[in-house]
Amino acid sequence: MTDEPIIKFDKVVKRFGDLTVLNELDFEVKKGEKVSIIGPSGSGKSTVLRILMTLEDINGGVVTVGGEPLWHEKGPDGSLVPASEAHLRKMRTQLGMVFQQFNLFPHMTVLRNITEAPVRVLGLSKQEAKQRGEELLDLVGLADQARKYPHQLSGGQQQRVGIARALAMRPNILLFDEPTSALDPELVGEVLNVIGKLAEEHDLTMLLVTHEMRFAREISDRVCFFDQGRIREEGAPEDLFTDPNEERTREFLQAVLDN
Ligand SMILES: Nc1ncnc2c1ncn2[C@@H]1O[C@H](COP(=O)(O)OP(=O)(O)OP(=O)(O)O)[C@@H](O)[C@H]1O
Ligand SMILES: [Mg+2]
Repeated sequence: MTDEPIIKFDKVVKRFGDLTVLNELDFEVKKGEKVSIIGPSGSGKSTVLRILMTLEDINGGVVTVGGEPLWHEKGPDGSLVPASEAHLRKMRTQLGMVFQQFNLFPHMTVLRNITEAPVRVLGLSKQEAKQRGEELLDLVGLADQARKYPHQLSGGQQQRVGIARALAMRPNILLFDEPTSALDPELVGEVLNVIGKLAEEHDLTMLLVTHEMRFAREISDRVCFFDQGRIREEGAPEDLFTDPNEERTREFLQAVLDN
């Protein structure tokens, strides 16, 4: 981990109609840092990830990724102007995302799900993409499932394909949006194991939205408690989970840990 922020939200505002979801959010993640975001439903957790993935635009403030503005670029006079599609496309290659509902392509084999974007977007040869895809399937423990279709896999296996697919684009930053919430309880462990292994063995920057408090505590360098589109409290997991400063954090943790 270095001190340099790889992700920075500077007074970011996001509205959906009359609803202000992010209200001048300030948020930073350092290079190589593993950060978990926890918080009640509707507090803006997914919105933060979707903005980074360029799936949602912003209404105010500046988001920086790797030192460059994400939703803006420098105009001729040096001022920030809204980003072009080309700029967004370039910036997007730094990030990968794993979704709650896997979002695999149902009509493609497991291997093709992983090789499709590297071939189309990064311009890898089919051979190269296949070799890399097979290595990644091995990494997530699915080397023998390459030729199956998503519907022939369990939820936990599908999510591990989702992780391999995100890694295939060689992102510097990996985003997870409740990657285990759609899984049967007995399949949660295998997915958390893969994420834990990535966190331990790679210098990827990881931003994880999760309800798995024990796991967040194990893998995170820092935990952020979101409430109403702001960070209400953040800190090292051992502090935030055992002795939060804010009553609101305490209430939230009590509610989820009782569950
Ligand atoms: N495309 C959209 N159009 C309108 N409102 C939206 C849209 N996306 C999100 N919202 C609203 O923005 C707020 C924040 O949503 P977000 O998905 O970021 O919450 P969350 O913290 O991820 O919640 P959850 O824990 O339920 O996933 C919610 O009130 C949601 O209804
Ligand atoms: Mg969400």
